[in-house]
Amino acid sequence: MSPAPVKVAVTGAAGQICYSLLFRIASGELLGPDQPVELRLLEITPALKALEGVVMELDDCAYSTLAGVEIGDDPNKVFEGINLALLVGARPRSKGMERSDLLQANGAIFSAQGKALNDHAADDVKVLITGNPANTNALIASSNAPDIPGNRFNALTRLDHNRAKAQLAAKAGVTVDDVTNVTIWGNHSATQYPDVFHAKINGAPAAEVINDQKWIESEFLPTVQQRGAAIIEARGASSAASAANATLEAARTWLTDTPEGDWVSMAVPTDGSYGIAEGVISSFPVTVSGGEYAIVEGLEIDDFSQAKIDASVAELRDEAEAVKSLGLI
Ligand code: NAD
Ligand code: LMR
Repeated sequence: MSPAPVKVAVTGAAGQICYSLLFRIASGELLGPDQPVELRLLEITPALKALEGVVMELDDCAYSTLAGVEIGDDPNKVFEGINLALLVGARPRSKGMERSDLLQANGAIFSAQGKALNDHAADDVKVLITGNPANTNALIASSNAPDIPGNRFNALTRLDHNRAKAQLAAKAGVTVDDVTNVTIWGNHSATQYPDVFHAKINGAPAAEVINDQKWIESEFLPTVQQRGAAIIEARGASSAASAANATLEAARTWLTDTPEGDWVSMAVPTDGSYGIAEGVISSFPVTVSGGEYAIVEGLEIDDFSQAKIDASVAELRDEAEAVKSLGLI
């Protein structure tokens, strides 16, 4: 007999990212080939018709792991009993905008959804925020869900993590699997700090293997920090398939384990680790064991890295102040 379906809510379900994400979840890539999944899809009312078309396509894939699909425009109904929420739905930025420009436009979405999660989700719910500005949206959702432990709200920096990994592999002429222990610190924004100094290439310190500080500072860092903008410039739309991939991978890691000896980057509530006081959701190196994450402690941070981390955390505190003054937290 198959286990009971896991209920996964996805918002922004008629959007670009979800056009890739939903099919991968439904096919069993998130929870495995033996675990049925029930999709609960949230959209705004004008997009429900388009979402019906997406559901027809999901049906037409005849996935054996897809136990059911419900759609709606009311988070209080769609989030009933859900075990996992992937909050993707929000307006993406267009050319020339910074992600912080989306604070007001998207903040209100996450306060309403935080309240609905608080009142209707299952006790074990985990919430991963992809919609931008992701870290501060996660803070808003969590602040509006006082009955759900804060550590159940994370924001996506796995895409930045994967971008950093790919850049390092290309520079060193190795495969991405040879690159481990990459970290993104701070905000999912241009201030993020992709840290090479704890990364490894085939087990050796990545910075020594690369042996090119100029490349690290003037090519690697800006390439990863500005990758989202470069994709918007080139495609005329923000990253979608890679964002869906990162959302899927991040959720799968959070539900299971990180590989022995490696870690991932996740934006999680600050708790004093690395001297970063509580109050924002910042990216750290984390390990996951049996579905519980822990910040990797005790890494040595040099002055160069510390200054970059401090700048990104300062931006997160500014964003938190801004949404506080808008009454969103
Ligand atoms: P999109 O515009 O194609 O789709 C967004 C969808 O969200 C739309 O269908 C819209 O109707 C829906 N939506 C808006 N308000 C909603 C609400 N209140 N409830 C439910 N649905 C709602 O955008 P996209 O390309 O899919 O991107 C979605 C978000 O993800 C954007 O904010 C984008 O900036 C962000 N993003 C984040 C990362 C990351 O790494 N964290 C990467 C890429 C994109
Ligand atoms: C990305 O990093 O690709 C997304 O956050 C989209 C953006 O606005 O940069």
